[in-house]
This record gives sequence, structure tokens and C-alpha cells, in this order.
Amino acid sequence: MLASLTLRCVVFSPPHFCAPMAGVTHSAFRRLLAEFGGYGGLCTEMLAGLALLGENTRRSPYTRRRPEEGQVVYQLLLRNADRIPEIVARLAPCEPAGLDLNCACPAPDARCQKAGGELFEDPPRLAAILDALRAAWNGPLTVKIRLGKNTPGWEERLADRLRLFEECGVDAVTVHPRFFDEKLKRPARHQLFAWIAGLTRLPVIANGDILGPQTLDANPQPFAPVAALMVGRMAVARPWLFARWNHPGPTPDYGDAWFRLFEYVREDFPDEKALRRVRTFTAYYARNFAFGHRLASAVRSAPDLDSQRERAARFFEADPPLVSAPDFSGVQ
Ligand SMILES: Cc1cc2nc3c(=O)[nH]c(=O)nc-3n(C[C@H](O)[C@H](O)[C@H](O)COP(=O)(O)O)c2cc1C
Repeated sequence: MLASLTLRCVVFSPPHFCAPMAGVTHSAFRRLLAEFGGYGGLCTEMLAGLALLGENTRRSPYTRRRPEEGQVVYQLLLRNADRIPEIVARLAPCEPAGLDLNCACPAPDARCQKAGGELFEDPPRLAAILDALRAAWNGPLTVKIRLGKNTPGWEERLADRLRLFEECGVDAVTVHPRFFDEKLKRPARHQLFAWIAGLTRLPVIANGDILGPQTLDANPQPFAPVAALMVGRMAVARPWLFARWNHPGPTPDYGDAWFRLFEYVREDFPDEKALRRVRTFTAYYARNFAFGHRLASAVRSAPDLDSQRERAARFFEADPPLVSAPDFSGVQ
């Protein structure tokens, strides 16, 4: 892998991205990651295109970008090509480093809208959206995919979509090698990256179960042909992961990072929404600790933000023992 990924003159260095995660990669979380640094690019959570038209994108916690965040790719959840020039124009004040089309998400909301993973299965609609995005946006355009539906012919469909992306002027593709319906507990198929990279001239960004440099050290071969890496849940549990990738350091202050995130969420969101964002972050962060379920459930059941903070303070004061590797199974 090269030391950076350059798409249309935009340099992502190192070629390490934080994945788009709904409910997590909002402005407050990106601010925390930015304080640690070490990544080449961050992603927003998926942003419903038409909803963006009603947002003040400079102020909304989903879209606002602080300068210290560096390169931020804005991920769009679109179901058709309606109003794409306006949607792209809405994001202009945020100066996106790139736009990404979500063709991966299996969540019920995306399904209902026939967007995300469902869009992957509908080439004419997909091409119309990509053509409209390409016409409206000169910067890096990427697509995030899974493997599609696990029915006969999936390999041909995947190869066909990669060709479609090339024809539509896409600059890179992020591959999360699980089938559409598979839960995150099923291991990502890293062994497929080489085959997929061989199918396309587009740079491939590898995603899924990448826990840090140890994943590549343990099994470097599947990652040899990929252009970049994208990490999701492990970056939530360890927001310093990118900073420490090539520069190991002392054990971070886990309590301090939690409280910083808490304050940033409180600053950017109204209370009711902040409460939910703190719960979601904590569900992943708590997996760092041997008895992290106590932190997760105390924060989840707290009726307001002050109680969330008090309960977390009690947990961190007890100097909770860490686990060596967080396990995310069953995180809601
Ligand atoms: C809480 C959560 C929210 C997610 N939201 C999105 C999203 O908005 N867009 C998207 O493309 N993928 C989304 N994903 C999938 C991640 O981007 C990523 O593909 C997946 O977590 C696998 O990577 P990981 O093993 O490094 O976590 C989400 C995953 C999680 C855990």
C-alpha cells in the first residue's frame, strides 16, 4: 500500500479512513478524532439527500466541519437522482474532501427507501444517480459497497457494478466484504480483496474487521493490492487508533477521552439528541473494559445528561480493568 491515496488531486495521507457510522461519526466525534489525529480522512454518517435540503449545513452536527478535522468525506444516502445539484450545492460551505454514495447499508430505513444496499441491485437507478453526482461535483467521488445479495451470480453482479462505477466516473470504491444481509458478527472476507481489486482499475478501500496494524501484520497478503483502509467500530472504541497506528505510545486516559466526547456532543446537539449520541458511543467504548457492560447500562438508563456524566465518573474513578481487544458482538 502506498503512503497516501490521491483522488483528483486530493491527498488522503496516510490512506487510513474512519468509516461512516450513523449515530456516531457526527461533528462531536470527528472533533475528538481530530484531536488525536493520524488519519487521512474522516466520513460523515450517511446523510439523506432530501433531508439535507432543509439543513443549515454550516451548523448542523451531521454536516458541520471544523477546520481541524482535515479531510472529511460526506456520505450520501440517495434513492434517485432528484435534486442532486441542489444537494451538492448545500454541502459546498462544508468544503467536502469527497462525496461518497452509500450502496452498502442494509438498515430497514435505507431498505424502505430502496437506497443503500438496495441501490446496488438496481443498475439503471444507480447509474442515473452517479451520472448526476458526477455532473454536479468535480471532487473525489467514491462508492461504498458490500458484496451484494448472496444469490447465484453475485460475482458477475459485483464485476458489473465495478464496471458501472468506472463508466460513471467514480474515483474509488470502498468494499466491505460481507453480503447484504450479513450481520457484523460474521467475519469480513478479507481474502476477497485481491480478487475484487483485480476486477477494477479503481483504487479499492478495504473495510471490515480491521482492528489496527495487527490485522495486516497477522495476514498481510489480502491487503497487498488495496489502496487504503477504512476502520469503523475499532475507531469508536479507540479514537486514538489512527494516531497510534505507526507511533505506539503510553496507555491513553480512557476517562478523559469519554468526558471530552461527552462535552463535545453536549455542545453540538440539543439535549435529547445528545443523550442518544452519548449512549451509542458508550455502547462501543464500554467494550474496552472487563466490566464495561456496567458503564454501558448505567449510561443507557440515565434519564438526562448530568446523570450520564455522574454515572460515567463513578465508573472511571474505580480505575476499571481493560480488556486486550474489545469484542463488539451484540452491541446494539
Ligand atoms: C453504528 C454503526 C453505524 C453505521 N452506519 C453506517 C453508515 O451510515 N454508512 C455506511 O456506509 N456504513 C455504516 N456502517 C458500517 C460501517 O461503515 C462499516 O462498514 C462496518 O462497521 C464494518 O467496519 P468495521 O468492522 O471496521 O466496524 C455503520 C456501522 C456501525 C457499527
